[in-house]
Amino acid sequence: MVGQIPQRFIDDLLARVDVVEVVGERVKLKKAGRNHSGLCPFHQEKSPSFTVSADKQFYHCFGCGAHGNALRFLMEYDNLRFPEAVEQLAARQGLEVPREGADDPRAQARERKRKEGVNLLELSASFFRERLKMPEGQGARDYLARRGLSPEVVRDFGLGYAPDGWEALKRHLGERGVAEAVQVEYGLLVHREESGRTYDRFRDRVMFPIRDIRGRTIAFGGRVLGDAKPKYLNSPETPVFHKGRELYGLYEARQANPRLERLVIVEGYMDVVALAQFGIRNAVATLGTATTEDHLARLFRMVDEVVFCFDGDRAGRQAASRALETVLPQMIDGRQARFLFLPEGEDPDTLVRREGAEAFEDRVTCASPLSEFLFEHAAEGRDLASLEERERFASRVLGAIGRLPEGVMQSLLLTELSRRTGVDQSSFEALMARGAEARPAAPSAGETPSPMPPAGPPAEPAPSREAGALGQMARALQLLVHEPSLVERLPEDDDWCDQADPDAALCREVVRLLRAGGYRSAQVLLAHFHGTPEGERLAALARREPLVPKGVRGAELDNWVAYFQRHRRRRTPQEEYDALLARTRRGERLSREEGQRLNELLMALKGQG
Ligand code: UTP
Ligand code: MN
Repeated sequence: MVGQIPQRFIDDLLARVDVVEVVGERVKLKKAGRNHSGLCPFHQEKSPSFTVSADKQFYHCFGCGAHGNALRFLMEYDNLRFPEAVEQLAARQGLEVPREGADDPRAQARERKRKEGVNLLELSASFFRERLKMPEGQGARDYLARRGLSPEVVRDFGLGYAPDGWEALKRHLGERGVAEAVQVEYGLLVHREESGRTYDRFRDRVMFPIRDIRGRTIAFGGRVLGDAKPKYLNSPETPVFHKGRELYGLYEARQANPRLERLVIVEGYMDVVALAQFGIRNAVATLGTATTEDHLARLFRMVDEVVFCFDGDRAGRQAASRALETVLPQMIDGRQARFLFLPEGEDPDTLVRREGAEAFEDRVTCASPLSEFLFEHAAEGRDLASLEERERFASRVLGAIGRLPEGVMQSLLLTELSRRTGVDQSSFEALMARGAEARPAAPSAGETPSPMPPAGPPAEPAPSREAGALGQMARALQLLVHEPSLVERLPEDDDWCDQADPDAALCREVVRLLRAGGYRSAQVLLAHFHGTPEGERLAALARREPLVPKGVRGAELDNWVAYFQRHRRRRTPQEEYDALLARTRRGERLSREEGQRLNELLMALKGQG
């Protein structure tokens, strides 16, 4: 992303689009008087309580309270971040989104590079698709037919064919003015150091375009038609492709159903495509790597439930054990992870063809919940009748529970562990608390705000300030930036901001502004600080997903405030005096003790001066 989008542009854009049209493309609306109404897309309902007003240019649901303008609708419905929603609306109007500070030459170069890469990859994808239809694509068409893929699914996933020969794509792109160096950079050509020669990376392979969440091709996977090795060849890491972050099929899943609730993570390209062909359109695959935290953070931003799908063999159990470790810190309340093991020798592709879609769906529905898998995994190969083994089992489960964010899930598992081992739950809690104390920087057990989310990875490559865990004050600030209306639940007295924390002053200022302005929009807040270091800080926090669902953010903030209040930096008498005075000036009534304290302070400070 390059710079902030000027508020002027946003206002102008909203003036040009019609919210009825934007909503109407996604929700069936009926004209009702001056408004339009329909079934709310944000909650389940049978009779319409969702209204869109052309006059006021906003939507509102009387059932669930969802409301906002066209931009907000796109953000919520299409799961877009603010700048993406602006881009999308602007594109409809044929407008280019201006960016402030876009004169930063490095940012400009980065953006140019991204566009250049995407265009080049798009060009290549259509080249492969064309070739699949030509006579030379006959072999590949036969292969796809043999694997039972329909023309529809081939079209939906944009499959293609990279012709045999060394320079087919290279020549095609060359004729269109793409420099060889660029083709090498994006992984389409291989460069031989010794000879200085370059040639097509993908030859005589069925091509799977890998698309980003907006549908832009960012890389390819290519499968041989026969038994040659390697079976699959993937694009290398490039400026636009990082395989630890991307998931094959995510765009296609979102296309098929924008209101996804669950995603199934499988192993292979073919698995995703075959399941789609059988109408199971919510499968995604990692790209020949284990599932990473980045993958999961991305998935959990879209759905509350992921189902990991593994082969039934030993390698599959191992992969599951790794997945469990990766997913644990992300299991805040409201999220679900389940584990599905397939019969030995099967993968989702073979299984769905043999059993049909319904049976496969049943397997997904019946997959083990995380808790079940966790206990099973910890008990594997142990004789729980033996005391020692039972102890090892318990400490293993405790270790996993300790990696969960605090919340309901954690206590449920503790209860279950105590049930299974016959050991009193309070002993486990004491053990856990000791473990937590030993961990540096984490507030001790009774005090940890709950649910305490993991420090999630930034959504995009970000400046170093964003890297790593958030400070405590920064976390509070981040929650406020993402949901400014939370300010309403903060205590009147902002003494909780008295922290020796670099973000404390900014936090206090943000709280003051939100109160004073009465506005509840992150964009207005960002605009206010625009161009200052504080503005950059806030923008960085705004870009970072809070990773907890909307409903529990308030509770988390309350916990932080309580925590801060207990750990307040001592105010100087002058500061204490100023704070009390400020409250009386705002017309607040002080308690009797506070009034007395004010007098004392007044006398003491006078005495000094
Ligand atoms: P599999 O070997 O399980 O292949 O690899 P598959 O998906 O069942 O493929 P088909 O059915 O034989 O066509 C699973 C995934 O591992 C990666 C690919 O992402 C593949 O989809 N892989 C596998 C590679 O990257 N390279 C390889 O040579 C093999
Ligand atoms: Mn397979």
